[in-house]
Amino acid sequence: MKPTTLAIAAFVLLMGGTVVDAGSKQLAVSKTPPPPAADIEAGKAVAGQCTSCHNEDGISTTPMVPHIAGQHADYIVKVLRSYRMAVRKGEVMKDHIGDLSGDDMINVSAYFASLEPFPIAVARKKSEAGGKASAVDPLAAAREASEPCTACHGEDGNSEVPGTPGIAGMHPQFLEWSMKAYKDGTRPDDVMQSFVEALSQSEIENIATFYALAKPVKTEFPGEGNVRAGAAVAAPCVGCHGVDGNTDDPGTPRLAGMDAEYFITSVNAYKDGTRDHAVMKDLVDSLSDADVENVAAFYAMQTPHGPTTLASITAAEWAEKCDRCHGKDGYSTDPRFPILAGQSESYLLRALKIYHLEKRKDPMMRAMSFPLREADFRDMAAYYASKAAK
Ligand code: HEC
Ligand code: HEC
Ligand code: HEC
Ligand code: HEC
Repeated sequence: MKPTTLAIAAFVLLMGGTVVDAGSKQLAVSKTPPPPAADIEAGKAVAGQCTSCHNEDGISTTPMVPHIAGQHADYIVKVLRSYRMAVRKGEVMKDHIGDLSGDDMINVSAYFASLEPFPIAVARKKSEAGGKASAVDPLAAAREASEPCTACHGEDGNSEVPGTPGIAGMHPQFLEWSMKAYKDGTRPDDVMQSFVEALSQSEIENIATFYALAKPVKTEFPGEGNVRAGAAVAAPCVGCHGVDGNTDDPGTPRLAGMDAEYFITSVNAYKDGTRDHAVMKDLVDSLSDADVENVAAFYAMQTPHGPTTLASITAAEWAEKCDRCHGKDGYSTDPRFPILAGQSESYLLRALKIYHLEKRKDPMMRAMSFPLREADFRDMAAYYASKAAK
């Protein structure tokens, strides 16, 4: 939305009427009657109580304090009322609106709504400062974080070290779970633990996505076993691991193309209980050493591929869903839905998380934030924060 359109929208709204979009498309404001006409000058006086945090121009310089300049007046009024009634819990805010009357709230909202809208003001300030909007590239971050892994797991997750599993093209969920199991020691391995123990949840998710997207190649170490004999041994395994060792199941590792030495080590670890997994133990307990060597060779010879379905969707795909309410690129023109474009990344991140945890209650946002994972929260916050600079 262009600055003028936003200003007009805010202006018309302040005049107690309906909002008219650039294409003069009539937007439904709400079913309730229009709010009483607001007094911007009176609002400016009230705003004196707010500027210590939200600043004179409504553009915050503190990451956890949201920008409110040019936000929809109706939305501001609604939020002030919900702080007052502690429906939205923000201790700081409740303390600062304690003595505002109903009219004060309407006026101060109209005042902030009349200022240069924050997406535009933030973009201008950034360009004046010569700054650049932050890019959403979790995979670039993951590439960096996975630098120490390449010595053993290969440049792209295709290991060239016998005894070390290839991790390219494994399901991200399985990769995530195994990293966490090494981290908390439920899958004991001192070496792997030392490499993952310092990783945060979001780094783990990024790394899992990074390797899941890498193309797996067949191991160069098929072992000594008899592939045909191995095919017979593999019969009970197909239900979970797939006919050729490729599976889309999030919790089951791919066996196709797996290094034979690692395969044998894993089976033995299930047998002797060092890798604790009751199901796998039952399945391999009765296999002889020759059986294991043969089935390892059979799987090593199969051509691996990555999962064909991944439940998670990209930031851009999420944004399409969010934009249905928040407007294209977060430039909402509908007073029920706050503008997100150019809001600070840390504020957006925190807001999303508290809707998700139902600490900030809103049924629409609860539903929308429910399926998001940590990495999605960060992607979405970065995505909308970067939209001011378009
Ligand atoms: C002491 C600092 C402080 C003062 C003073 C203050 N605020 Fe806030 N304001 C905050 C913080 C922090 C938040 C974010 C709280 C949260 O996460 O719910 C916030 C949130 C808001 C929001 C919600 C914005 C959104 O996008 O959902 C509005 C609207 C708002 N303040 C308006 C005001 C007005 C109007 C005043 C003056 C009457 C005021 N604030 C005074 C710190 C302050
Ligand atoms: C010093 C060599 C080494 C380094 C460095 C290393 N790994 Fe490993 N990794 C291994 C070995 C060996 C195993 C098999 C351990 C076992 O038997 O459980 C393994 C297992 C794994 C597995 C489980 C794969 C499966 O099929 O079950 C994942 C996931 C993994 N590593 C990820 C990583 C990540 C991510 C990093 C970097 C942060 C990393 N590794 C660094 C050697 C290494
Ligand atoms: C009921 C489903 C199921 C069946 C049947 C099954 N597996 Fe598994 N398999 C799993 C799961 C789940 C894991 C991951 C367990 C873990 O987290 O350690 C696994 C892990 C493995 C691993 C370790 C792979 C890695 O990357 O770390 C090997 C090797 C393996 N299975 C071989 C076999 C063989 C051989 C058979 C047939 C004799 C078989 N599995 C049958 C579910 C199954
Ligand atoms: C069905 C409409 C709808 C959809 C779709 C929707 N939202 Fe919202 N969103 C709302 C409403 C209504 C609010 C204000 C709720 C309140 O009063 O706290 C809101 C508030 C927010 C806020 C807080 C803004 C602030 O200034 O405090 C964020 C952040 C947000 N939404 C992000 C998203 C993201 C990201 C998506 C997509 C995953 C999304 N929304 C999808 C309706 C929607």
